[in-house]
Amino acid sequence: MTEFDPKRPSTTEVGAPRESDAHSLSLGPNGPLMLHDVALVQKLARFDRERIPERSPHAKGSGAFGEFEVTEDVSKYTKAKLFQPGTKTPMLARFSTVAGELGSPDTWRDVRGFSLKFYTQDGNFDVVGNNTPVFFVRDPMKFADFIHSQKRTPDSGLRDANMQWDFWTLSPESSHQVSYLMGDRGLPKTWRNMNGYSSHTYQWDNEDGERFWVKYHFITEQGMEYLTNDEAEQLAGSDGDYHRRDLFDSIKKGDFPSWSVEVQIMPYEDAKDYRFNPFDLTKVWSKKDYPRIKVGRFTLNQNPVNHFAQIEQAAFSPSNTVPGTGVSPDKMLLSRVFSYPDAQRNRIGTNYNQLPVNAPVVPMNSYDKEGQMEFNHSGDAPVYAPNSYGRAYQDTQGPVDNGWEADGELVRSAYTLHAEDDDFGQAHTLVRDVFDDAARERLVATVAGMMGDVEEPVLSRVFQYWKNIDQEVGECIEKAAKENRGDDVPGA
Ligand code: HEM
Repeated sequence: MTEFDPKRPSTTEVGAPRESDAHSLSLGPNGPLMLHDVALVQKLARFDRERIPERSPHAKGSGAFGEFEVTEDVSKYTKAKLFQPGTKTPMLARFSTVAGELGSPDTWRDVRGFSLKFYTQDGNFDVVGNNTPVFFVRDPMKFADFIHSQKRTPDSGLRDANMQWDFWTLSPESSHQVSYLMGDRGLPKTWRNMNGYSSHTYQWDNEDGERFWVKYHFITEQGMEYLTNDEAEQLAGSDGDYHRRDLFDSIKKGDFPSWSVEVQIMPYEDAKDYRFNPFDLTKVWSKKDYPRIKVGRFTLNQNPVNHFAQIEQAAFSPSNTVPGTGVSPDKMLLSRVFSYPDAQRNRIGTNYNQLPVNAPVVPMNSYDKEGQMEFNHSGDAPVYAPNSYGRAYQDTQGPVDNGWEADGELVRSAYTLHAEDDDFGQAHTLVRDVFDDAARERLVATVAGMMGDVEEPVLSRVFQYWKNIDQEVGECIEKAAKENRGDDVPGA
């Protein structure tokens, strides 16, 4: 294992003394350079390869290490070791914006990513969520289009409100998440001041083989706080790394942020006729129907010592489940199970799970082998299963602990609608019953303020979209947008 020794005079990559860090080798002081100047060639070649692809969405972010402690007893719902009473588990959290690139300002209005990796005694368990409990689309076929609409136009390379609202208004299922985004959650004051959610429905199973549907909630113990549009805009110019700086500085001075870990639990059978389809990612489960149950809390208490190695190369994935946990028939979630490891093999490299930040704290015995940069390997053990030479392998058959029943023909289809399913109902509840008057006014100002360059027919669709969510809010947005644009305001 190579050790880093800052006191040793600098070396080449392979440990030989380096002749110079300051002067290249030339033929005479003014002559051409020598190709065999290993020190220079290595330095340039390595510089040329410093950047790895940024994450496709969620490129800008940062994080910290910490500990999750279970303070309550939820063992009747899950056998997962990390959720057993009193268990303490080391963990990593990463927070991010969605649409901006690696160098983009932290305070642009956006949903925030909320990624957690727990290094458990049964392998790594990740929850890769957001600071909102729902999402913009419910079918993974639309995900790439959604992200494209939030990034940049093909010609100017600019971000474009017309493109964003065109996509959203043609995808009415986005209304709930767009209401969150245009509300205060779109501008959290700091990462410490926001909640996190799995958003998706996952599964738990207990020692008796009983299954439950579960949604994770991470409630900030710092309190939820927000920036105004003006504050956010100013910070985007004066300190683009405002959120990254806040987290790092807080932890550095010993002010460790913490979150209460809570879950909503739905008995397995309830899913069939719950009033909303419980696997539809654009919907929440009412807390009246399924109250939050406390599990424990986590605290972030250790900064990365190397941002690139520990945060940029961190690989979170909803596919990282452990016994006692599992996924659900949410189509978005099932697609993410494929997409994240696929992206990470490309972004970091085939053996990305061997990097210290991604490696489990327990031994592994995987028949996956070789590929670029293999570091951990199985020595001379058999490389195939089954084998007669003592290398363990699994041959489990039959129903799995955390599965579900399904039948029917192959179709391309929306989910089956449950009694109260529609595209606008929960968005209406959010905007009318959860937001107070002042929050609604801020929402109106935010949406109206985005309409400057929005063209017809998108503009009219935006007004109708908001009237579908809430007639009065829609009318206020139309009036304010038209006033801002200098358009005629009918009836005004
Ligand atoms: C079909 C749906 C989705 C697909 C295909 C998808 C795909 C991706 C990909 C490819 C990345 C980059 C991963 C990497 O390079 O490490 C990513 C990052 C991320 N996504 Fe998604 N995503 C989807 C939906 C969602 C949803 C619903 C959420 C939240 C509930 C979410 C939250 C995140 C977060 C937080 C990150 C950053 C992870 C980190 O901190 O490293 N995504 N997504």
